Amino acid sequence: MTSAILEISNVGKSFPGVKALSDLSMNVHPGEVVAFVGENGAGKSTLLKILSGDYQLDEGQVILDGVVATHASPLMARQAGFRLVRQEPEIVPDLSVAENMFIGEYPSLSGGRVDFRKMRDTVTEMLKRYGFWGLVDLDTLGRNLSPAQMHIVEIMRALKDGVKVIAFDEPTSSLTHDETEQLYGLIRQLKADGLGIIYVSHRLHEVMEISDRVVVLKDGVPTGNLATAESTEPEIVSLMVGRELEHGFKREETTRDEVVLEVEHLSSRWHDDISFKIRAGEIVGFAGLVGAGRTELAKVLFGEYQKSGGVVRICGEETRIKNPSDAIAASIGFAPENRKAEGLILVRSVIENASMAVYSALSKFGVLRNRQMISAVSPFIEQLEIKTPSLTQEVGKLSGGNQQKVVLARWLAANPKLLILDEPTRAVDVGAKAEIYRLMDKLAQEGIAIMMISSELPELLAMSDRIIVMSDRKISAPVEKQDATEEAIVNMALGSSVS
Ligand SMILES: Nc1ncnc2c1ncn2[C@@H]1O[C@H](COP(=O)(O)OP(=O)(O)OP(=O)(O)O)[C@@H](O)[C@H]1O
Ligand SMILES: [Mg+2]
Repeated sequence: MTSAILEISNVGKSFPGVKALSDLSMNVHPGEVVAFVGENGAGKSTLLKILSGDYQLDEGQVILDGVVATHASPLMARQAGFRLVRQEPEIVPDLSVAENMFIGEYPSLSGGRVDFRKMRDTVTEMLKRYGFWGLVDLDTLGRNLSPAQMHIVEIMRALKDGVKVIAFDEPTSSLTHDETEQLYGLIRQLKADGLGIIYVSHRLHEVMEISDRVVVLKDGVPTGNLATAESTEPEIVSLMVGRELEHGFKREETTRDEVVLEVEHLSSRWHDDISFKIRAGEIVGFAGLVGAGRTELAKVLFGEYQKSGGVVRICGEETRIKNPSDAIAASIGFAPENRKAEGLILVRSVIENASMAVYSALSKFGVLRNRQMISAVSPFIEQLEIKTPSLTQEVGKLSGGNQQKVVLARWLAANPKLLILDEPTRAVDVGAKAEIYRLMDKLAQEGIAIMMISSELPELLAMSDRIIVMSDRKISAPVEKQDATEEAIVNMALGSSVS
């Protein structure tokens, strides 16, 4: 075998109150995809950020292409040939796609002016070469990009000259099936080009499909380094969590007649004439392609966007929701897909972030005391196993998956009548996923109506009483649980865009 392009030896890293990585050693060879797996907070992003120069290691050594990598800064890491496609893409809202891709390194004309032409040509050429042409437009502003498009920009940004090792931190959590296939195509191309590739994902079937080796971490400690072809998913899971997990999830049956949400002839910039109902205790899944308008529907219901027509009733009463405060007052909760931008105040503590909705819901009865906040929220922090050294830790310092759980905890604690969950298990690990399903089931049994948007079909099929498929500004008739198959749903989602 050729020598490794990346050698990681005995690397350790601590943060106040947490040993994020201990004694990690692993190699990546040219043309090899090494998957890096572990539960939320296991230390995966920490390793990648050490390689990218965002963090400094405390112990050990990294050798990149034969040179000891100090990577004292992100710039040095880039110059040495390391690129990171981040878990949370960093996109400037007011810059175009082309500008975002070149951020900090615009090509310039003599006289120092930015060479916009060259920039556009390079971006166009790259999007075509890597198969992303047509999926993003050069002139779209960062603020108008979908999560999937942001990821594409982030990937393209990483692939500019001189890359030797590239790491993907959960690249597919906001991608559809087709986009994921495209990404695999890209990764195969990078393999053939002889790059070293590190791939972090919670989706083990992806890991099995795309990787050559799997390195497993548990609480910062390496627990396995296996050839993918010689390992199995259950084996990897047990190395991750230290126990076997039950497979699949079965919901309790709940039937209630009370209609919680009734949407009649709703229209908006993104929707025409949408009508559906969700009863108490019911989980209604929303399937569709990214861009089909599901997130926008959630935001219309939550008052972030305005409807242009139609009626929305909560428990029979017509609502006049103009903004999210109105929605909260009408007992609607919404856990958004894009938690970093919309869900959390990163410099505030876990407890402040988690109790925000409780606060709005209860503050009309007077001032909420700290103790009340803690008692309302901490059961959910425990149930979701949010990994944090304390309740006062800044949310921005939690791992990506744990940040997602804080957003969920907030809405679970607020005890809404209608809970809208947009990709609730995005970026959370296998154990926490099962926990989220259990919580959803419990909430449904307590009579909460749940609208669940998800791009993961197995999850929609397992959790939903009925599935509604959205495409082309409209929704399908609800598909009852017993009639819902993966194939049927995919065909419906593709339906109108194909015909
Ligand atoms: N800047 C920081 N300050 C303090 N603690 C941090 C910081 N960055 C990470 N941590 C902690 O280090 C641990 C490892 O976090 P890391 O982000 O590497 O996890 P991860 O494996 O990527 O998890 P996820 O799957 O949720 O993304 C966590 O306990 C996290 O809270
Ligand atoms: Mg992470």
